[in-house]
Amino acid sequence: MDFQSAKDLLNKYEQSHLLQYYEELSIDDKSYLLSQIEGLDFSVAQGLNGKREEQNDGEYSPINAVSLNDIKELRQRYFSLGIDQIKSGKVAAVLLAGGQGTRLGYDAPKGTFNIGINKNLSIFGQQFANMHKVVQAAGCYFTVFVMTSDKNNEQTKQFFKQNNYFGFPKDKILFFVQKTSPALDLNGKILLEEKNKIALAPNGNGGWYSSLIESEAGKAISEQNIEWLNVYSVDNVLQQICDPIFIGATLSGGYNCGAKVVKKTCPEERVGVLMNQNGKPTIVEYYEISSELASKRDADGELTYRYGVILNYLFKVDVLNEVVSKNLPWHYAKKILPHLKDGEKVYPTEPNGYKTETLVVDMIKLMGNCLAVEVDREKEFAPVKNKTGVDSVDSARALLIKNGIEI
Ligand code: UTP
Repeated sequence: MDFQSAKDLLNKYEQSHLLQYYEELSIDDKSYLLSQIEGLDFSVAQGLNGKREEQNDGEYSPINAVSLNDIKELRQRYFSLGIDQIKSGKVAAVLLAGGQGTRLGYDAPKGTFNIGINKNLSIFGQQFANMHKVVQAAGCYFTVFVMTSDKNNEQTKQFFKQNNYFGFPKDKILFFVQKTSPALDLNGKILLEEKNKIALAPNGNGGWYSSLIESEAGKAISEQNIEWLNVYSVDNVLQQICDPIFIGATLSGGYNCGAKVVKKTCPEERVGVLMNQNGKPTIVEYYEISSELASKRDADGELTYRYGVILNYLFKVDVLNEVVSKNLPWHYAKKILPHLKDGEKVYPTEPNGYKTETLVVDMIKLMGNCLAVEVDREKEFAPVKNKTGVDSVDSARALLIKNGIEI
């Protein structure tokens, strides 16, 4: 992109301040800045300025779910259907490991965190140990796509190499880097980090599919005829990946998408809840749900909206290809953002802008339908979000021990 085109583009979106130091830059720095401007998605600032439409209105109803009781009866049928899909290479996993893990306060990729006590056991290592059970049952490996960010890509790849790809063949582990999005000030202006550098950060976990298919790794989807992608988060050490029962249940119901869910322990639990909104599946985050909806109960005393998501989803590839062109809503997290002002770097003490991201939960609505598949939370849900307390290293270790896993 040349200077004039960048200028026109920025004028159009009222972001012309990004070129204010252009004349001071070296030739290399100029072209670096222009290439970043070319890659910007300006819908991010428009979303904030235009105050996007309210997401939370409409008719809510409980989602169709396969409960633990249902699974007891149908286990064998689901299992063999799921195993067949894995054997025929139609299912791959996608590990979302591009997050910054700020709550954990650990200065390295979260998956490298040592969750062991008496031995070294990384989060990645434990998740791969979980996957080896499926590999054994299926008698074959499946492809694992690993999404990193430009901030942790090298370190993550290095860690996989040092650990011999956790026993998977090297060619079954395919890395790709997620895209970035700009930080905004409180008025929706894109921030500069340096005179030649826009303040960019990983664009949230919602961009995983567009980042994947535009990457070298993504070619494997069509080359290997992969039909289903099991997307999961790095921060659950009991995460069961490519679980044949989950795959079998979603497929046998003819769904485009499946979500592993756990029964909420109480109305206030901090998990997103899967439900229908105007007949379409949606996930209502714990900070968005009304207390009336959260605490509503059925005649038998169970919470009506009881299924919390654990960031383990199964997506049908051909439907993903249709929805990928549709824009996901942007989310804006107010943060303290160091930036450049009047040519000097400033370090605010109060939140001064927004980090921008799209979220995987918003993809569920676009998929048209989604089957909730209940799993036993004690066996499959040990999130590592914080250092101590709720959803922490401590609580995850306790659950690993409870499951008889040596740590
Ligand atoms: P979280 O929403 O917990 O974000 O990620 P985080 O960045 O890891 O942690 P905090 O909020 O800063 O403490 C849920 C999952 O989504 C992935 C994370 O790696 C995790 O597996 N993720 C998140 C990405 O892959 N990319 C992102 O930009 C954000």
